[in-house]
Amino acid sequence: MAKRNIVKLGDDILRKVSRTQLNFDEKLHQILDDMAETMYEAEGVGLAAPQVGILRRFCIIDVGDGLIELINPVIEKSEGTQTGDEGCLSIPKTYETVTRPMKVTVRAQDRNGNNIIVSGEGLKARAFCHEIDHLDGILFIDRKEKL
Ligand code: CO
Repeated sequence: MAKRNIVKLGDDILRKVSRTQLNFDEKLHQILDDMAETMYEAEGVGLAAPQVGILRRFCIIDVGDGLIELINPVIEKSEGTQTGDEGCLSIPKTYETVTRPMKVTVRAQDRNGNNIIVSGEGLKARAFCHEIDHLDGILFIDRKEKL
């Protein structure tokens, strides 16, 4: 495994729409492993492929109860709302109040291309939404509450 550089705000790649990941091969597995190492070292709870310079639709999340890898994720269902502070490894030392669903269900594929459904509440739901936004070039600062 190898740590990768995290792209920071101002880099155009963070504003682009990522493309579908079609290959579930060793190359993908290597990138996912590198992303996990990078996320844990930076003490983040999520990291999306564009944040390491790859415009493909996948991301990883770990809110403290285990690593989740989502390839081509789509939010299937969302319920309720939560309002709280949010940050991003690409925008250091910046926190904004963002309203997200309280509970979301995501349809995705795992690293081998199997279909998976994952659900999360609270912080996990927030992380799913935040990371999937990255795949569409959307950053949490775009969604900050106008107080
Ligand atoms: Co982020």
